[in-house]
Amino acid sequence: MDENTAEARPFPLTEAPTYHIRTFGCQMNVHDSERMAGILAESGYRSTDDPEKASLIIVNTCTVRDKADNKALSDLGRLRLLKKGEGEKILAVTGCMAEREQERLHRMMPEIDLVAGPAQVRNLLPMIDRLRTEKRFQLGRDFDLPEMTTPPAVRPPGVTALVTVQEGCDKACSYCVVPRTRGPERSRPIGAIISEVRTLVQEGYREVTLLGQNVNGYGKNAPEGEGFADLLLALDAVDGLSRIRFTTSHPSDLDLPTIKAMACSSKVMPHLHLPVQSGSDRMLSLMDRGYTLDGYREKVRHLRESIPHVALTTDLIVGFCEESEEDFQQTLEVVSEFRFDGAFCFIYSPRPGTPAFEREGMPDRAVSLDRFRRLDELMSALVLEKNRGRIGSTEEILVERVDPEARTFSGRTPHFRTVRCRLSETEPFPLLGDIVSVRIDSCSKAGLAGVSA
Ligand code: SAH
Ligand code: SF4
Ligand code: F3S
Repeated sequence: MDENTAEARPFPLTEAPTYHIRTFGCQMNVHDSERMAGILAESGYRSTDDPEKASLIIVNTCTVRDKADNKALSDLGRLRLLKKGEGEKILAVTGCMAEREQERLHRMMPEIDLVAGPAQVRNLLPMIDRLRTEKRFQLGRDFDLPEMTTPPAVRPPGVTALVTVQEGCDKACSYCVVPRTRGPERSRPIGAIISEVRTLVQEGYREVTLLGQNVNGYGKNAPEGEGFADLLLALDAVDGLSRIRFTTSHPSDLDLPTIKAMACSSKVMPHLHLPVQSGSDRMLSLMDRGYTLDGYREKVRHLRESIPHVALTTDLIVGFCEESEEDFQQTLEVVSEFRFDGAFCFIYSPRPGTPAFEREGMPDRAVSLDRFRRLDELMSALVLEKNRGRIGSTEEILVERVDPEARTFSGRTPHFRTVRCRLSETEPFPLLGDIVSVRIDSCSKAGLAGVSA
């Protein structure tokens, strides 16, 4: 080996390089981290839980709200200290904040060696190589974008797997930064998705959650012309797969074929996450959501007509610009009207670069906090009431975890409720991935509990 090769080689030959990934944000980011782990594992890296021991630390960031930025920045503030006197350690920032901030991150923290947005993580290895040879900060956007193929992934062992089918968002909700961080909508070819899911089933996975920023917009720009309903039906035919879930759907792109596919497939679970964001048409219009409450109502009517006991969950924002007490009351009313099975509630966080950023009329922080608290109380009471309504029923659980010491196992119902099942001294444990019946006998806000039926 000559000196030049030694210089270009990232790490000493005797030791396998190690990586440590920290992930913030949504499931899409979780899966991007699994993809990065896959790319690194294929080229000989080993994972470590200890950032101090890692040759490569990746912070995979989110920037959807101010809080997400702050979390990642304070994490980076701690991790940068690990680089002191450690010539070989690489500190990388990926994900949505990386896309937005680019070189500004390096200016803030010169210890950061490379910054790559979500689409650019497929260039991770070339970026590391160039960093090693050029010995200077690298930006993902300076590299050509590879095709949207199926990079390898390292998923945690288990029975449920995340599968990205669509990326990016062509909507323009006035508060949202995601179209700027994830780019325009792209869909993976249906064949690539099916073969990935078949492989997952061979590896023991029984449930897939299809991911997309606008997942039911799947196929809009796809070369083969198949839509989301076609994808669901094609996956329904995969032998050995028990359950299919997907998130997140936009109300405007929820079409009748998708509802029909959900209704006629026994594998597509009867649960839809359909963010409404607000109960006020005035707010929906200021948010540029592209539908009115009546439009949303109509979609839910179709859904509930076709799948009578479908679970419906949602996202809600309070404290958006110009939100009055009356607008907020309409959001409370909408929760009571649709009787959501769950909701993620957020306080509006202005994001630089979004259309709403310049808008005035945000309620005082104390008012928004109070609205958030009232909304959260209403939702919690509704969820508890719904969970209580399941007591006495028998639920089919996909077994995701067993705890031999506590003699319990846990998993989710088709409606996505968590269930913990207690076993007697003599009852055998089910296998991970089995579907078993549990008789529900108690509950909390967080989920259900019961015994084998
Ligand atoms: N594509 C998905 C969700 C993207 S972000 C969808 O449209 O439903 C997840 C949720 O974060 C959104 O549904 C919204 O409720 C919330 N959100 C997005 N931007 C926000 C902001 N600036 N402030 C507060 N909440 C926000
Ligand atoms: Fe953001 Fe709206 Fe796109 Fe969802 S649909 S990612 S909220 S712009
Ligand atoms: Fe956050 Fe990006 Fe997901 S901003 S919510 S990690 S799409």
